[in-house]
Amino acid sequence: MASFSPASNLPTPSSRSKGSSIATGWSKSRRTVWQKPTSKPSDGGAMDYRAINFQQKFGLFNEQWQPKVVAEMNDYQFKIVKLQGDFIWHDHKDTDETFIVLEGRLRIDFRDGCVHVSAGEMFVVPKAVEHKPYAEHEVKLLLIEPRGVLNTGHEGGERTAVNDVWV
Ligand code: NI
Repeated sequence: MASFSPASNLPTPSSRSKGSSIATGWSKSRRTVWQKPTSKPSDGGAMDYRAINFQQKFGLFNEQWQPKVVAEMNDYQFKIVKLQGDFIWHDHKDTDETFIVLEGRLRIDFRDGCVHVSAGEMFVVPKAVEHKPYAEHEVKLLLIEPRGVLNTGHEGGERTAVNDVWV
């Protein structure tokens, strides 16, 4: 599976229907978390002059390892996520990945070392470099990466989160 795909390559209901509570949100009959807010004139909506508040956004979900999009800038997405415990080794062949820690302390393991990133700090993982996030206690962070990047890179598997879920 490619680690980078066009924005139009959204998950289909059939590909996300098994064992996912999120899949029930795939409904045409009501507004769901899947829908991108129309907060910009370029989206066909009016300007939304409210600031995006991370604390408020983090209050909208509890699940860990499931990034939620809070904003986009050109082709890049800003995603907030709660992490705790260990992840899987992976890399992103086509893009760097930025971690900005907002709360807690994150460790990012590399094959030849690790970096500790605390609240108020950030780290950019270069593309194609294998990494594995770890957090002893829950950490809240902001990810910045191009639209379409999967959290597990090209590894796939059960830890792969659904893309383009907005809060
Ligand atoms: Ni990554």
